[in-house]
Amino acid sequence: MNIGRQYSAIPVPSEKELRYGEIMTIKPLIILPDPILRQVSKPVEQVDSDILKLADDMLETMYDAPGIGLAAIQIGIPRRLLVVDIAREGEEKAPQVFINPEIVKSSDERSVYEEGCLSIPEYYAEVERPAVVTVKHIGRDGKEHLVEADGLLATCLQHEIDHLNGVLFIDYISRLKREMVIKKFTKAAKTKAV
Ligand code: NI
Repeated sequence: MNIGRQYSAIPVPSEKELRYGEIMTIKPLIILPDPILRQVSKPVEQVDSDILKLADDMLETMYDAPGIGLAAIQIGIPRRLLVVDIAREGEEKAPQVFINPEIVKSSDERSVYEEGCLSIPEYYAEVERPAVVTVKHIGRDGKEHLVEADGLLATCLQHEIDHLNGVLFIDYISRLKREMVIKKFTKAAKTKAV
C-alpha cells in the first residue's frame, strides 16, 4: 500500500539503513490488470532462510517504491507474507514482517483513509474499514504474535491481508470508478506491450 499525497512524505532510506539481512534485491512489481493480483495466496509452511530472504527483498522493494506495505503476491509470489513500515519522516524506521497473518478481531468503529497501492500506481481513493483490528501472525522469529493495530497500521494491514485473498482496494469503490481505473490500466499495459 501507499497513501495519498498528503501523507506521502516518507523518506527513502539510505542503502546502509536497508541492511537487515544479507544482500537484498529490488523485485519488479506486478501491476493491474495482471491476473496474478487476483490469486489467493497459500500459507507459508515453514519460516526458513528462504522466507526471511523473501521478506528482506520485499522490504527493499517497498522502500524503493516507496510504499508503506507490500504483499508477496505483488512481486508474483503467492504466499501469505507481507511487510509494512508506517514510520513517518523523521521517525526511526520500523519494518514489520507478518507471516500467515489473520484478522481475529475487528472493531465496529470505522475509519477512512485515502489509500493507494504499489500495484495501482498513482491512483488514490478513500476507503472505509474497521478502525481497530487484532492480527494473529508469525513473526521473523518464527513465533506466533498478536498485534492490536489502530490508525494507519490497521488500514495498512487490512489492505495487505486483502492482497493475500486476491482483493484490491479498488474493490471497495463504486463499480463505475473501478471500471474506469481497470480500463485505464488495461490500456496502459497494452500500449507498453506493443
Ligand atoms: Ni496494495
